[in-house]
Order: sequence, then C-alpha cells, then structure tokens
Amino acid sequence: MTLGETALDLAARLGHERVIVIHDPRSGLRSVIAIHSSALGPAVGGTRMRAYPSFDDAVSDALQLSRAMTYKTAYAGLAFGGAKAVIDADSARPDRRALLEAHARVVRELEGRFVTGGDMGVSIDDVRFMSQFSRAFEHAPAGAGPDASDLTAIGVMAGIDAAASRLGLELRGLSVAIQGVGEVGGRLARRLAAAGARLTLADVATGRAKAVAAETGADLVTPEEILGVVCDVLSPNAAGGVIDDRAREELRCRAICGAANNPLSSAEVGEELDRLGILYAPDFIASAGGVLSLLFEQGTLDAAGTVRRVERIRDDLLELFAAAAREGTPPFRLAERQVEAKLAAARSAG
Ligand code: PHE
Repeated sequence: MTLGETALDLAARLGHERVIVIHDPRSGLRSVIAIHSSALGPAVGGTRMRAYPSFDDAVSDALQLSRAMTYKTAYAGLAFGGAKAVIDADSARPDRRALLEAHARVVRELEGRFVTGGDMGVSIDDVRFMSQFSRAFEHAPAGAGPDASDLTAIGVMAGIDAAASRLGLELRGLSVAIQGVGEVGGRLARRLAAAGARLTLADVATGRAKAVAAETGADLVTPEEILGVVCDVLSPNAAGGVIDDRAREELRCRAICGAANNPLSSAEVGEELDRLGILYAPDFIASAGGVLSLLFEQGTLDAAGTVRRVERIRDDLLELFAAAAREGTPPFRLAERQVEAKLAAARSAG
C-alpha cells in the first residue's frame, strides 16, 4: 500500500472482485481470501501461512499476490482467474491445524468460485488435511501425481535454462545464487546441482540451508549476502519485494529467475534492471509450474503431459525475451501487456 492508502483503496486500485476477511475468535484465526479476477474462470491461488507485522500487511500481501495469480493463470493459458488466501499466523504454531480447519470451513462457502492449494507455510499434507473440509482444496492423493512444489521447481529450472541460453550459457557450469531453500527452492537446488550448476544458497532457516548445501555441494552465505553474490542467475524463492532499490545496488547477477511471487518491490525496479542489462524473467511466468498442477488435478493432462507443459516455460520465455528485445521493452512489460489484452478481451466477451 502506498502512504495513506487503506487495504480497500488498494483493492479498488488493483481491481479486486471480492475480498473476504475472516476473524474467528474460537480458533484465533485471522485470514483473508482475495479474489482478484474470475474473468477467465474460477479464481485459483494458493493458501499461504505466515506471520505478518500487522494484519493490514497480510491483507495487502493477499491483494498483490492474488493479482499476480490472475497474470500467472492468464499467461499460462489456463481457464482460471486469480486469487490468494493468507492466514496471518506463524506456520510453526503448535495449534496450526485448528487454524487451517477454521479457515477451510470458510473456504467451503466459496466452492465453485475459488480453487486453492499449498503455498508458503502450507504443505501438501496441510492441503490434504484441509481438503476434508472443502473440495476447493486441490490435492493429488499421495503418490498419485506430480506435486505442486515439484512442478514449480521444474518450471523455475526451465526458466533459468531459458535465461542461461539467452546469455549464451548452459545449465552445466552456470552459477546460480538461490535465496530460500524451502519446498520449492530446495527442490530447485537439487535439480540444478544434478544438472551441473554451481550453487550458492541462503535461507533464514539455518538448519535447512546447511542441510541443502551439504546435499548439493553449494556454498552457503548469510541471507544478508545472497542478493550480492556474483553469479549468472539469481533465483529468489522466498518472500516477495526482495528486489528493491537498495538490493538493486548490490546485485552482481546477469539474470533473475525464481519462484518467489512479486519479487520486485515496484515496476520501476524492473525497468531499472532492464536498463542495467539484468535479464528479469517475469515471476508470473517462471513460477507457473505450481498452478499448472491443476491440469493434472482436473484430469486435463496426465502426469507426464503436465510435466512437459511445465517444461515448456523455457520456450515461452525464450520467445518472450526475443520479442521484448526486438521491441526494446523489458520482458515483464511485454508479458503484462499480453495478459491485459487477454483479460480485456475476456471481459468484453463476458
Ligand atoms: N501456490 C501456487 C502459486 O503461487 C498456486 C497453486 C494453487 C498451486 C493451487 C497448487 C494449487 O502459484
């Protein structure tokens, strides 16, 4: 939110259809479900659990994340709109299941209009648990198919491969700095290491960082150092807003591609990256692997077909990079324009 702007002002500015704030005194749940757009179909977006400095920050994040989902599904060509749910609570809370249950019972009221799954702080097991209370929670039964985190990692890897290729490099020998090695970042690190990339990583959870570094042979740095690592590709896979004006000064990478949603603090930062010659793969394209799991969940594609579709993110990005270069536009600007045209066409048709 900009100074003096309320959450509702922000929702109006970003064009949300509906924002639901949940306060459940029995469980202590405080959450928000932000439906940004159903122009292309039922609104889809993960459920995130994270402790915010204030509930207003949680609402603001849900609003921006849900808008990013509208772009993600539209760009990927899915017949879904964009949404996101945020539970404002520490994901390690001992009573977290009570919160998830209370939240899922409200989600039930939105069945048919809202489809959701895991996200930061909400695991596949949590999604399975919540699916007892509402069919809006998409999950593959254990062992049935590709899991959303794995698909997200496969998609980011395809994006990194595209960025590398644009730089005249390949995955073997590519130096990649990974910020965040949780469900997605950890899987990405293992895949990149297997492909012969040289990794540097950091995570606010030091135990996790050490374990993944040991497993992948990566160099370990502190969370304060990761953005300034000299590398070919920087891969943000944690919170949003990390590439801000200050970070931009520190950057020593040639490209940025990760799973973090809304990694840029503003569009101006994105423009500046482009001026600096840093290739930025739009997050709503690179991180689409998770939501593409719906193709499997809903029976449109089988497991192998879904993986192939996610791997196609490489070609999508290569095409975008080339078109943007021809136009002299930052790739994220061109991709945004393409999405906005698609949404406008859907709105005028509907
Ligand atoms: N959390 C995923 C994302 O941010 C979206 C998702 C929704 C994944 C539903 C699985 C199921 O893109």
